[in-house]
Amino acid sequence: MKILVLGQGGREHAIAWKLSKSNDVTEVFVCPGNAGTSLEKNVTNVDINLNNHKEIIDFVKSNQINLTIVGPEAPLVDGIVNDFRNLDLKIFGPSKEFAELEGSKVFSKNFMTKNKIMTANYKEFCDPEAALNHLSEINYPTVIKADGLAAGKGVTICNDDLEARKAIEKVFNSNHSEKLVIEDFLVGQELSAMYICNFSGPTFEISLPWTKDYKSRDEYNSGPNTGGMGAVIHPILDEHKNIIFKLHIEIEKILTKTILNINEQLKDTNMRYLGFLYLGLMIDADNNIKLLEYNCRMGDPETQNLMIYLENMKIDFLNLILENNHEGSRDYNLDYINEKKHYSCTIVLAANGYPNSYKKDFYVDLSEVNESENLKIFHAGTVIEDGRIKSTGGRILTVNTFGLDRQKCIDLAYVNVKKIRTFIDKEFKHEDNNLTFFREDIGG
Ligand code: AMP
Ligand code: GLY
Repeated sequence: MKILVLGQGGREHAIAWKLSKSNDVTEVFVCPGNAGTSLEKNVTNVDINLNNHKEIIDFVKSNQINLTIVGPEAPLVDGIVNDFRNLDLKIFGPSKEFAELEGSKVFSKNFMTKNKIMTANYKEFCDPEAALNHLSEINYPTVIKADGLAAGKGVTICNDDLEARKAIEKVFNSNHSEKLVIEDFLVGQELSAMYICNFSGPTFEISLPWTKDYKSRDEYNSGPNTGGMGAVIHPILDEHKNIIFKLHIEIEKILTKTILNINEQLKDTNMRYLGFLYLGLMIDADNNIKLLEYNCRMGDPETQNLMIYLENMKIDFLNLILENNHEGSRDYNLDYINEKKHYSCTIVLAANGYPNSYKKDFYVDLSEVNESENLKIFHAGTVIEDGRIKSTGGRILTVNTFGLDRQKCIDLAYVNVKKIRTFIDKEFKHEDNNLTFFREDIGG
């Protein structure tokens, strides 16, 4: 098969790399891709803007692409799946109606409430005055969420009235949202549960191992929210089996309610949920679960963490998507706790300043990192310039490790992230150690 992956982040590098290792794949294209994808064997970057659905479709037709897989949320919300399906082209992802689960916080929160899925208490507002007046009735911290997609910057955790006012004004002054949600701040442990809802229908979801994402920029969950600064196979999976089974049943219930009810609510579209589904969950000290958010895609950097895991476990990702093995539903969390445990760890190397305005256009030297089965770098904000890796994004790359021992796996990632050197010039004469940072507590 020839496969096209849409996107340019670490998630897409990891997906493209994993697909390129499948026996059924002859070539993987990534649109637009990054330096990392351009360096992979059997992977080719395609320079087309993701907004240009027509050009992407022309490329798919003229290159006889068998399957397109959508990485990020924006093309889904923009209806790329609808455009492909209208022409009978095979694409993996939800259509735009279903992608509202991620594309609109108001839609998703109302959907959760209507279907009795536990979530933080909230109120929606389309009027700034009403939102500001509501602040006198709430406790802090509180969470303010822009309704529409905001490139990962739509959620603000506010510690006082001043921060909340600023966050409200920012949303209403932006051009991505005319509404917002104000909701209770939840305390607990976050868990990312990702599913492959494949072509065989709603009884064939595949549950990938739970992962833990490290959302805040700084250690001990401090600093601003980011897209994610690291990920590990979720530590909760090491706990007593009874806890895992209880959590497993509760999370399965959320998944089933979601798929059945969204399919029912949107049955007039003659489509059903197809693609990845990500449940962002919060588990409190008594193991009660609430749903924070839906994503209609895989997580980033959770995907990088899962792809090195799946590769070392010899699991073919393409087969999971196509359901070639005809095994029906499968839960890799149960496999994980029943079989010998394995771990993976992902550390994000980010440009100083991220998630606000950050340094870029410097050069990254990876020559001291010796990649192996247990150690893989996935690029995100990078391009190749004159044979050098140049930084272009806030999250530059991830270092990903796999192993039998959790601590050794984490240590291997840290040893190697420290071997990455950064230079302001492409001749590698002027080294500057203040261009990047990473969180020191991933895995903790
Ligand atoms: P969302 O896009 O809604 O998941 O929000 C992004 C991140 O903000 C989440 O992964 C959490 O880390 C944090 N967050 C969102 N909602 C809440 C909440 N109600 N309580 C605490 N943290 C939250
Ligand atoms: N890492 C969180 C996300 O992808 O939404």
